[in-house]
Amino acid sequence: MKTHRFKNYEALSDFAAAEIAIAIKEKPSLVLCMASGHTPARTAELLVTKLQQNNIDYSRLQFFGLDEWVGLPPTNEGSCQYFFNTRLVKPLSLQASQCFFFDALSNNLPNECKKMDDAIAARGGIDIMLVGIGMNGHIGFNEPGTPTTITSHVAALDDITKEVGQKYFASPMPLDKGITIGLGHLLGAKKVFLLANGSKKASVIKQTVEGVITEKFPASIMQRHANGHVLIDEEAGALLTHRK
Ligand code: GLP
Repeated sequence: MKTHRFKNYEALSDFAAAEIAIAIKEKPSLVLCMASGHTPARTAELLVTKLQQNNIDYSRLQFFGLDEWVGLPPTNEGSCQYFFNTRLVKPLSLQASQCFFFDALSNNLPNECKKMDDAIAARGGIDIMLVGIGMNGHIGFNEPGTPTTITSHVAALDDITKEVGQKYFASPMPLDKGITIGLGHLLGAKKVFLLANGSKKASVIKQTVEGVITEKFPASIMQRHANGHVLIDEEAGALLTHRK
């Protein structure tokens, strides 16, 4: 794992977007798995700009949404798929055949997990995974205590996740379960970027980068990834002992 520090959110987002754009240029059928949320929002915008301005062919890109709140339709503005649809699918006119999202309204969620796992396996695994980090150290909805070998699964949400998750919704939203790609996929991904910005993420970044590797703090497994990259701005890196 390597830690990359940037002076601000814009620089961090620009680096992440450039890395992905270059990877798609080198491998047009890139298997990209991305988180939604506030952190990757600017990366998504800049990725669209870079792909379009540089005439990079993304018609064969294989795009996987990392997770979803169980029970929410893609039309809900707080849903993960709403984020992907508005920031990537529509601006890039991605085809349905190249996009993979959990149907969080399905009455057969285990089958949604199986479909996701099969689709990832059929494409030879994930090339690039770009994730954020929750205030309890979760990645996607891999909550504290999740085994590191796990693939796609339905998770009972941690109280912190239910509380922090309210920020995505205009009015109070009952949040109970999430469906997510697993930590096993993260460890198997060829390259992983974990992004964090702002002072509120400083303590979770310290645990991620310098804490013990434990299932109790899922993001700590980044330390086990040989091609794992933690991208942080000055504020998110403020508590790190080893400043570079
Ligand atoms: C959410 C999502 C994650 C996301 C994380 C951080 O609950 N399940 O996929 O990466 O929490 O979100 P944000 O970037 O908004 O801080």
